[in-house]
Amino acid sequence: MIPFNDVTPYNDMPYTQFVETCQSCTKCALHSGRTNVVVGHGPVPCNLMIIGEAPGEQEDLQGLPFIGKSGQMLTKILESVGINRETDAYIANTVKCRPPQNRTPLAAEMDACKPYLIRQIQLVQPKVMILLGSPALKTILEEMTAISQVRGKWYQASVNYMEAPLYIIPMFHPSYLLRNHSKEKGSPKWLTWQDAQEVKQALEFYCI
Ligand code: URA
Repeated sequence: MIPFNDVTPYNDMPYTQFVETCQSCTKCALHSGRTNVVVGHGPVPCNLMIIGEAPGEQEDLQGLPFIGKSGQMLTKILESVGINRETDAYIANTVKCRPPQNRTPLAAEMDACKPYLIRQIQLVQPKVMILLGSPALKTILEEMTAISQVRGKWYQASVNYMEAPLYIIPMFHPSYLLRNHSKEKGSPKWLTWQDAQEVKQALEFYCI
């Protein structure tokens, strides 16, 4: 489980300064190929935080998370349960720079970015968190199991910004759903829509 309450080198930084620091990061090799650092997008603080994998081509070009095809799928999933991605969610990634050819981020790249993510969570102060795909699962929960085994399962973490635990739910990555079209009962898409309803209920329950 990620050490959510850890002191990071960015702990004294308010959000804008934190973003500027990320934007000038050279801690791993990904910095040399990037157009933009994709820090995150959404209200701060925010009850719901969504963590994906890494920026793709469009995200790198525009500096915003989940705006390509996967992003459109994510928007649909959220909208299906009445969650507005602009007003109701803060969206970030496990690594903030695009890996070459959209390859999976390396362990060293995820490790280099982790203190930023810890500070970002502390700034956003979510009550509910969605982990999209395996890199987010590995980074946040240190869970090596396949996403298909743990999706839809609630985890709890203690955080120092509230008394109640932070509720965390892994879900399939939208890009996986783009490759799996079936909507039949039990399919990844069908399961994801169940998970989205769980998230909506958790938000209604915990974030009055
Ligand atoms: N996939 C991700 O995981 N994050 C993005 O921002 C875009 C695509």
